Amino acid sequence: MKKLFLLAAAIVTIVDMNATTNGKKPVYKDPKAPVEARVSDLLGRMTLEEKVGQMNQLVGIEHFKQNSAAMTAAELATNTANAFYPGVTVADMEAWTRQGLVSSFLHVLTLEEANYLQKLNMQSRLQIPLLIGIDAIHGNAKCRDNTVYPTNIGLASSFDVEMAYKIARQTAREMRAMNMHWTFNPNVEVARDGRWGRCGETFGEDPYLVSLLGEATTRGYQGNLDGTDDVLACVKHFVGGSYSINGTNGAPCDVSERTLREVFFPPFEASVKAGGASVMMSHNELNGIPCHTNKWLMDGVLRGEWGFKGFVVSDWMDIEHCVDQHHTARDNKEAFRQSILAGMDMHMHGPEWMDAVVALVKEGKISEQRIDESVRRILAVKFRLGLFEHPYSDAKTRDKVINSPEHKATALEAARNSIVLLKNDGGLLPLDKSKYKKVLVTGINANDQNIMGDWSELQSDDKVWTVLRGLREAAPETDFSFVDQGWDPRNMSQAKVDEAVEAARNSDLNIVCCGEYMMRFRWNDRTSGEDTDRDNLDLVGLQEQLIRRICETGKPVVLVIISGRPLSVNYAAAHVTAILNAWEAGQFGGRAIAEILYGQVNPSAKLAMTMPRSAGQISTWYNHKASAFFHPVVCGTSEPLYPFGYGLSYTTYKYAGLQLSAGRMAADGSVKAQVTVTNTGNRDGVEIVQLYVHDCVSSVARPVKELKDFRRVELKAGETKTVEFTVSADKLAYYDIDMKKIVEPGDFEILVGPSSRDNDLQKAVLTVE
Ligand code: BGC
Repeated sequence: MKKLFLLAAAIVTIVDMNATTNGKKPVYKDPKAPVEARVSDLLGRMTLEEKVGQMNQLVGIEHFKQNSAAMTAAELATNTANAFYPGVTVADMEAWTRQGLVSSFLHVLTLEEANYLQKLNMQSRLQIPLLIGIDAIHGNAKCRDNTVYPTNIGLASSFDVEMAYKIARQTAREMRAMNMHWTFNPNVEVARDGRWGRCGETFGEDPYLVSLLGEATTRGYQGNLDGTDDVLACVKHFVGGSYSINGTNGAPCDVSERTLREVFFPPFEASVKAGGASVMMSHNELNGIPCHTNKWLMDGVLRGEWGFKGFVVSDWMDIEHCVDQHHTARDNKEAFRQSILAGMDMHMHGPEWMDAVVALVKEGKISEQRIDESVRRILAVKFRLGLFEHPYSDAKTRDKVINSPEHKATALEAARNSIVLLKNDGGLLPLDKSKYKKVLVTGINANDQNIMGDWSELQSDDKVWTVLRGLREAAPETDFSFVDQGWDPRNMSQAKVDEAVEAARNSDLNIVCCGEYMMRFRWNDRTSGEDTDRDNLDLVGLQEQLIRRICETGKPVVLVIISGRPLSVNYAAAHVTAILNAWEAGQFGGRAIAEILYGQVNPSAKLAMTMPRSAGQISTWYNHKASAFFHPVVCGTSEPLYPFGYGLSYTTYKYAGLQLSAGRMAADGSVKAQVTVTNTGNRDGVEIVQLYVHDCVSSVARPVKELKDFRRVELKAGETKTVEFTVSADKLAYYDIDMKKIVEPGDFEILVGPSSRDNDLQKAVLTVE
């Protein structure tokens, strides 16, 4: 790229595009001109180098500086969160930006840097604004003082589609106020393997739930993709990364086309059809073909079948991984060629792209027309986002928008609704303050910002509620003693565990906060999150011992789990008194947990992912095929620890009288299903009412049940409501033996209840004619 920078400097005899052509502004600078006309006009003015530059991304210069000081080239080869470019200086990167040879930056964390880069870029000949991208997965949490919402798995456990939309909308506002325009979310991978460290950034294991939340998130980020409050969504990772061998990130995925179409594709299709204007490919190879060079996926399915009009971006150096990981290309240049010809539009990230791709065009190995297609897609999005008219933001706007009272209220509400009560023996919860006066709080997650979850950086302490802080605020009269177990599950101190056990003997109640560690600034010390996969789902380190020995004191124990992945907490499930699975609840996590423990909030969330008893049970997802447990395992059980859709409340609900408006329906018809739900306890609550469908006999084997609808229903104590669903033909359709989507005549069970567990479900039979 150094070569090119000099070359471009020579070619570009600075034509000032602000100057009028025959007294008129160029069409591409006219905000009133249609986007297509602006794109064509601009494309016609661009050199090959400028075009290839529009297909490239670099990491931000602050990120670069930090890592060039800290990393070796060997570390660089495997690290997918930090980067620098050997042999390149900050001055080089600044010069390329001034030359208009960079399209996008990622890992830019401040408004100042975003504006600085944009300003450099505005010195370029054509002044094509930079698109600043960031992983704003649960709020723009990598940036200081931006609102941190619960991660996707917690959001999914609230089954709250409107909340997903609202969070995305608020995040978009905060991002634009930070002059950031492109979030690498929603992650709409269907999580089917708890060993995979990225479950927390997904919406869980069910294709229908993931589809709805992905779609709402996409709409929330993008709005109409035409305002200064809108950002570009990135639907990722296409496809199969959540179903890799061994559950490790980036490992091969071998899966039938049927399972792709039934399970993994639907959420992508939904988000793309909701307007998602960028898609990121997945690290892994799919059935032997790396996703990054997979023409079937990019041109066939995405553009051909689903009509995707946006642009495709590579994941972190993944085109390059065709060389060193998949061994399907001899060198990076060849990998770039394969990827572009398969449909790739933008490269994440690095300077090598420029020389190689320009050479490929000059050598006739890629046509300039093919380059133009990609550049058109990228420019169209930049125009739609209004970047040409609004390339900057300012500190005043930022300070008004980020972490605003409204956004904080949303983050708190989302946290309250995301925490799942798994166990509550003898109604220990909500806690009675007059009975439990001396309370021990301990565990690695009792007082750490880790509660926010993966994809957040350290925030100022005053903005984050740890569990300890939340408890002290919720029950100021209670005597909380805290035994600090440190943050690091792998290096816990036996002496500290002993100390906690001693303290437990002298307390009335013990709150133990366990789980995983996922803060990115300690990349190599985490136990969960991106690139942090496990071979079992047990608690790491001395955590299990801590729980066991505290239980053995005979005092009541509440376990609070902070984790993005389901954990096989078998001992706790059998012995502690109460369990809250709080996932990664964001900046207000500790406050929401304390409010639930002390009954200011009645928990309502339900698991968006099955909790297996062991890694051997990772395939016990609820929507398995009937024969999955024909021969049950010996010395164990086929039942998971807690099933999908399960979660308790401080009140109880009774379901009764499931009725269909008709017992028969035409293959293109629909019926109504009604059920009454009564709050039979003495507290108001919100119940997540779930509707599943089971095809009794089908020409192709179908799952034992599939979620097809749900409602969050508010019920006052004693109140009864009738909940109505529409069972339409599309909810019964499936891919037949010829992979055509059809509704087959026959009987379907319509199942409604509070979880996916058979015993929890009311049943009615619908016959399709
Ligand atoms: C991850 C992506 C992410 C990108 C940029 C990659 O390592 O797989 O999900 O968007 O980094 O941070």
